[in-house]
Amino acid sequence: MQRTYSLCVSQQRMPRNRTYLMCPPERYEVAYAINPWMDTTTPVDTELALKQWERLRETLSGLGHTVHVLAPEPHLPDMVYAANGAFTVDGVSYGARFKYAQRTAEAAAHRAFYDAGGWEFRAPTQTNEGEGDFAYLPAAYGGMVLAGYGFRTEPAAHVEAQDVLGRPVVSLHLVDPRFYHLDTALAALDDRTVTYYPGAFSTAAQRVLRQLFPDAVLAGEADAYAFGLNLVSDGRNVVLNSEATGMARKVEAAGYTPVLVELSELKKGGGSVKCCVAELRP
Ligand code: ARG
Repeated sequence: MQRTYSLCVSQQRMPRNRTYLMCPPERYEVAYAINPWMDTTTPVDTELALKQWERLRETLSGLGHTVHVLAPEPHLPDMVYAANGAFTVDGVSYGARFKYAQRTAEAAAHRAFYDAGGWEFRAPTQTNEGEGDFAYLPAAYGGMVLAGYGFRTEPAAHVEAQDVLGRPVVSLHLVDPRFYHLDTALAALDDRTVTYYPGAFSTAAQRVLRQLFPDAVLAGEADAYAFGLNLVSDGRNVVLNSEATGMARKVEAAGYTPVLVELSELKKGGGSVKCCVAELRP
């Protein structure tokens, strides 16, 4: 009986080919600290970071996805976290406007990529850190955006994103500084299903999430600490970092296929798989 059920579940998991944007950590270092994970006294092995990043890129290509690469620029060590550069839905790219001066210039590099690629680029007037704080669920309620605020992205940017993208945007209050971007605490497993760590959200936001997603895969504090929520899923294959073993078991139990990659060096900057990957939705 149990067996039949799990077969049913996995048969429903249909991967969809995705297009991603990544930026190699050639200039990566922890030269400043703008989140609780960053410690400028901990050395970073840039060569190892590059190897791990390359492995992640190969993993995504190996799953059949298209990966575009953005050239890293000098003095922008956080450019490797490409998810923060914009948020793109249906060919429209809502640009980022970074909170901290150290990252401000990254926005222009992303913009140049979208302009060159024929995307409809919309410049932001409000502070927002792209897919770090925006998630898109194409099949939930006809296409819905989830948006985090509290540490980086301003609620005014949620309103702007709704105006630019023409999709309902649900604002979620992040309250734990270790989970300063939405993508450290919540991820889309497929077009309608989310997984999240409730403790990262305000009581009200937890209630909103329960109401919208009664079938969500709930993660615990240990999963979140291991950056297990900072995952990239194609609807079947869930790419997450190798420290997040508990989270891997959870997504597997929910009928997805966990794919583990090592990203220890990128964790020192306060990010993991999802932070390194922006999804481009044509
Ligand atoms: N050091 C970067 C920062 O603090 C990490 C960004 C992580 N990116 C993400 N999408 N969560 O801004």
